[in-house]
Amino acid sequence: MQLLRPEPLPRQGAKPLSAEASPDRAVARLLAGEHLLLTGSYREGVALLDLLRARLGPPGEDNPARRASRRAWREVSGRLLAPVLNHRVALDGAPVVGFLAELYPEARDFALPLAEVQDLNRAWNRYKRGTQIAALGYRIHPFYGVYAPSRAEHLELFATWLSGYRGPRQVAVDVGTGSGVLALLIAKAGFAEVLATDLNPNAVEGVRRQLARATEPPPVSVRQADLLGGAGPLADLIAFNPPWTEGPIDTPLDAALYYPPDLFPRFFDQALARLSPEGRVVLVFSDVIRLVQPDSPHPIDAELARGRLRLVQRLRRKVHPPKGSRTRERVEVWELARA
Ligand SMILES: C[S@@+](CC[C@H](N)C(=O)[O-])C[C@H]1O[C@@H](n2cnc3c(N)ncnc32)[C@H](O)[C@@H]1O
Repeated sequence: MQLLRPEPLPRQGAKPLSAEASPDRAVARLLAGEHLLLTGSYREGVALLDLLRARLGPPGEDNPARRASRRAWREVSGRLLAPVLNHRVALDGAPVVGFLAELYPEARDFALPLAEVQDLNRAWNRYKRGTQIAALGYRIHPFYGVYAPSRAEHLELFATWLSGYRGPRQVAVDVGTGSGVLALLIAKAGFAEVLATDLNPNAVEGVRRQLARATEPPPVSVRQADLLGGAGPLADLIAFNPPWTEGPIDTPLDAALYYPPDLFPRFFDQALARLSPEGRVVLVFSDVIRLVQPDSPHPIDAELARGRLRLVQRLRRKVHPPKGSRTRERVEVWELARA
């Protein structure tokens, strides 16, 4: 399984940027399409990225404009390179990023965009530190390139749903497992066998490592697969926390946030083929789609209208916005059964 990682680049393809070079001039060269290789300190590189961000201006207001800003940022910032030698960023004051040894075991002399190094560094700190999940009662350690929950309301709502579940607990599937958090909650609720899938190989690697950390590993198996991954045992529970808004997918992480038009129809077809007669399909969702894409058909309502599944209940809960902002968003848990 090939893990996702930023593409290693030859150092020789970029022009060395001396520590004395004017920052404004360096940013102008990046904008003009030159590839520059940092030679001074890590901090100088970070300052250049900050200057570049200011030059590119604030991200747009709506989703397409924000996406265009992200593309422009990726393209231009991707030209400011940091040297990597023997799994270390070869700049004064650079942090030690453990993922460099883990993701590039074979490569000892190359370059990476500094912005990617920053992402790897943030991900390494998150991975080492872990994220406490109150509903689980312990920390999860999401791997590089994997979506990890940044807030708790939807997980707590799913845990509330699980605590009220009275059906059989033989087999469950967690589709799009990400950090594995729902699979671990399901295992904690006493399911005998939990199959976790994700398209993203880094999610699979991360969940394997998470399972290996446990002194008593939960009954979770994980594999790289599209949705439910084809044939398998009938499931009492099929859980899916899908992307919450429709949109194009530019990066593997986008596949956690945006869904293509065929994702939900394909998911429901596969779920119906694998659901036990009394089984439940449970979607963790949000009404953000009604707020930001009011004209898009609602993907779960569209399935219910087909008459193959019925709504058993829908739990909803307010989201606490970050300090200083407001939101009307609510997270949801949709429990569906065969009609
Ligand atoms: C919103 S994240 C949820 C992650 C995790 N279950 C959670 O609750 O934190 C959606 C996940 O679905 C995965 N995904 C998207 N499309 C998929 C597909 N067709 N098959 C399998 N996994 C998919 C993404 O890689 C991502 O990890």
